[in-house]
Amino acid sequence: MTNRTFAIIKPDAVKNNYVGKIYNHILDKGFKILSAKLIKMSKYQAEQFYFIHKDKPFYEELTNFMSSGRCMVLALQKENAVEYWREVIGATNPNEAEDGTIRQLYANSLGENAVHGSDSSENAVKEISFFFTESELI
Ligand code: CMP
Repeated sequence: MTNRTFAIIKPDAVKNNYVGKIYNHILDKGFKILSAKLIKMSKYQAEQFYFIHKDKPFYEELTNFMSSGRCMVLALQKENAVEYWREVIGATNPNEAEDGTIRQLYANSLGENAVHGSDSSENAVKEISFFFTESELI
């Protein structure tokens, strides 16, 4: 399972019509897309998904934003998937993201930063199973 990670193309990027560009970016970087679906999270789902941040001052803003519109959830596979995906997306704050990273190319702000990536293999397993059943991971 360590070769899997979980990604979200967030509501800002979907709204700005960047799904196709980001999807191609993922493939160009050599990831296999095990599964992908367009969903709209409920506020409750967003609160559960980001429960780890529940005591952070931005929790309310984050969960409101993540449930504000459609997003694409993806299960990705590649060697060292977690580390490599984090490299491909760049720093959480797009102002600090390196040139050519997804957040540098497509994100507007720290709160609306285009994509999500798991921060560890352990969390990748949890996050993938939050949105996908085993039979959806092909
Ligand atoms: P993500 O990788 O999805 O994980 C948690 C998210 O919280 C992060 O991306 C940011 O979009 C968001 N976040 C982190 N810090 C802040 C902040 N100070 N204000 C608003 N949102 C934040």
